Amino acid sequence: AATVAGPIALWRWTGGHGHRFASGPAPDLQLLPPDARFVQPLRLPGGEGLLAEVDLRMPLRLIAQATTQALFPGAPTTLWSYAGASAGRALFNPILHARRGDTVEVELDNRLAEATTIHWHGLAVDEANDGSGLHPVAPGARRRYRYRVDNRAGLYWYHAHPHGRTGVQLQRGLAGLMLVEDDEERALKQRLGMRWGERDLPLMIADKQVGPDNAIVYKDGADDWIGNRVLVNWTPEPYLDVIPAWYRFRLINVANARMLRPCFLHGDRVLPMQLIGTDGGLLERAWPVDDLFLAPAQRADVLVDFGALAPGERVRLRSLEYVAMENEDESGAFAPDPMGDHPGAAAMGEPLDLMELRVIECATERRPPARLPPLEAIAQLPPMPDTRDWPVRALRLRMDEEGRWFINDWNFHLSGHEPAFSVRRGSREVWEIRNSMTSMPHPMHLHGFQFRVLSRSISPPDIRGRQVAAGGLGPQDLGWNDTVVVWPGEIVRLAVDFAQNFAGTQRYMLHCHNLEHEDMGMMLSFAVTD
Ligand code: C2O
Ligand code: CU
Repeated sequence: AATVAGPIALWRWTGGHGHRFASGPAPDLQLLPPDARFVQPLRLPGGEGLLAEVDLRMPLRLIAQATTQALFPGAPTTLWSYAGASAGRALFNPILHARRGDTVEVELDNRLAEATTIHWHGLAVDEANDGSGLHPVAPGARRRYRYRVDNRAGLYWYHAHPHGRTGVQLQRGLAGLMLVEDDEERALKQRLGMRWGERDLPLMIADKQVGPDNAIVYKDGADDWIGNRVLVNWTPEPYLDVIPAWYRFRLINVANARMLRPCFLHGDRVLPMQLIGTDGGLLERAWPVDDLFLAPAQRADVLVDFGALAPGERVRLRSLEYVAMENEDESGAFAPDPMGDHPGAAAMGEPLDLMELRVIECATERRPPARLPPLEAIAQLPPMPDTRDWPVRALRLRMDEEGRWFINDWNFHLSGHEPAFSVRRGSREVWEIRNSMTSMPHPMHLHGFQFRVLSRSISPPDIRGRQVAAGGLGPQDLGWNDTVVVWPGEIVRLAVDFAQNFAGTQRYMLHCHNLEHEDMGMMLSFAVTD
């Protein structure tokens, strides 16, 4: 039999069986039968309540509190949400709109029985406004976040981030979207001719474990909390009526631990997507992709064409099954882990239908154009930096014998909360993140800075395993990102530029965005100093 030359010789993608991670739903909590799904229309941005929209031109006050929401048929569900009011409308986890360059102000009023925060995921803010667990807001206390939005246009998000309690607080509901706009985005909107809220829609995908009484269930100290119900825009297993035309979807995975592999399927046929943006905003050009991996916290801005479909036809947004085996030789046996310990590991995800899209007649006279304008040069990105002279910081992800997660020798709780290292403001480093062969895929998230992915050693970017740039990069790796998946046995290299306008020491987090891993200490803080 052929032997394995290096740490990673082969990837095998197989059909295999559905798989749940260790702490999947309790036996009495199962996914709905197919005929009970796709009965609720997708919640759209706007109006009142969940997904209401508010412009951050005016200061906003958000109250973290338990609220009651009608999410599922039958009994209401208690959600922990960021509640507010604007022009007489009740807001719960509203979509916040801002423009690059705006100074925004949001006051958090914590009326929960435990500490919480608002972390501005992906935004380049200072430590005081970052909303990490370094600055918890105690029950009954308030905190005012006020910062300048320096990021490019894109879909960002906000969520709770208290040490050790992020998993439970997000599972219970404390998360919302934030859209930043800039000139490039305005120009693209014009060219595409799609109105936000109509053919340009967020798809905020979460999974929850929901009990028979419609209550959200969470077990403190859980591993990898995988839900038994899918919520898209806070709507369980929804459907969306679409006209035969192009749509723009801003996909975001806000699940605690479930890695998604979204794909639009018409029967067995894949409707290809055009990927135009990632975490940190627009790519330079559109890339055709059939599917992509969307780990917790990641965003993907995609265009999909329903133009060839007739009214009455249906499309599924499905998270495809994946079984990725690393370090396997051709006989199917695992080769030993070159870093020690055990034989190779596998990353698996079960197939999951997220929502249904139903093609309907276009009601207006003017059908949208069947073709997209050319999507070359939609945004300007600086060229990939030449990092040959940059210092390299090695970061290894691993689990110890007792099942505790580490980044190098740091476990956030065991190591105290002190910064693991410091970097100079304005300096630049290559971060080389190496995942243990026996581990799981870890979506690693950096606060305060967007980075560029320089290379990755194994992960196939889509079904076809297509790489579009040197260094094994797939389309998703080409833009600015704040969260990157590191597969078992993989080495991912990032270019991080610590340029910023703040003064004094600023502490930020690097952590796994599998929230149970984060809560168990797979996180470190580092300091940016003058
Ligand atoms: Cu979205 Cu440190 O988190
Ligand atoms: Cu992890």
